[in-house]
Amino acid sequence: MPNRLSGKRVFITGAAQGIGLAITEVFIAEGAHVFLIDRDEALLEATAAKLKEGGAVVGYQAADIADAVAIGEAVGKAAAEIGSINALVNNAGVNVFAEPLQLADEDWDRCFDINLKGAWNCCRSVLPDMIARDGGVILNIASTHAFTIIPHTFPYPLAKHALLGMTKSLGIEYAAKNVRVNALAPGYVETQKVIDYWSSFSDPEKAKIETLKLHPGRRIATPREIALAAVFMISDECPFMNATCLTIDGGLSVLQHQ
Ligand SMILES: NC(=O)c1ccc[n+]([C@@H]2O[C@H](COP(=O)([O-])OP(=O)(O)OC[C@H]3O[C@@H](n4cnc5c(N)ncnc54)[C@H](O)[C@@H]3O)[C@@H](O)[C@H]2O)c1
Repeated sequence: MPNRLSGKRVFITGAAQGIGLAITEVFIAEGAHVFLIDRDEALLEATAAKLKEGGAVVGYQAADIADAVAIGEAVGKAAAEIGSINALVNNAGVNVFAEPLQLADEDWDRCFDINLKGAWNCCRSVLPDMIARDGGVILNIASTHAFTIIPHTFPYPLAKHALLGMTKSLGIEYAAKNVRVNALAPGYVETQKVIDYWSSFSDPEKAKIETLKLHPGRRIATPREIALAAVFMISDECPFMNATCLTIDGGLSVLQHQ
């Protein structure tokens, strides 16, 4: 079933690498036109150039999603370059992990400014046009941290819980305007962020093996496996899926213990 995203003009954040890049590549293969945001300007430019070489319709803007003005301007640029945005993937996010009482105030702010307010900045920039036109679809990349807790990862799970709350709230607010808002909750996915997490341990290889062992299938997800689920959720194949969350974690979050 090719071209499942034909007619979708998608604003994707954190698109220069990892899950965001996998989503971008799979969406292009399914016929979407994409506008990419990342705060890593050099990586974003290189990524966009490579995608354009392959013939994709791609616009991009280096921006920090925590900067509401920059995101508003980027949505304007996206409309001018690829047409009014009718789909948004809020993917950009950062790990902020601490023992709660050791957390610095600036790290609390950084966590919520990016993982929650950043997604809101994008939602509020695209929603007026979606509501005024034919509706649209928003996908928030949450995490299993949106409903489970790993000790010493505070306050990242709080922001992901809130992102799930925002998904439900906006999904209800705009359902009658033909806007669907859903979340996708990956478990561990092999991206730079997870490699950096393993590297934070004195024995990274041991940390990796411990992570794989947690999983019923003894492996973690590839970014592409998350992207394939995102295609379904952004496509018109699930028109009544709204204000909900799809978990893709190989069964990790329902496993009591092994
Ligand atoms: N990797 C995992 O195991 C995993 C699991 C569950 C959820 N997630 C979520 O998936 C999303 C993507 O994760 P990933 O592992 O691909 O990350 P990643 O670090 O590999 O890539 C994230 C990209 O987002 C960009 N970015 C970060 N902060 C930004 C900001 N403020 N403004 C603009 N761009 C910004 C980075 O430059 C980077 O290119 C995140 O929201 C993350 O919380 C990841």
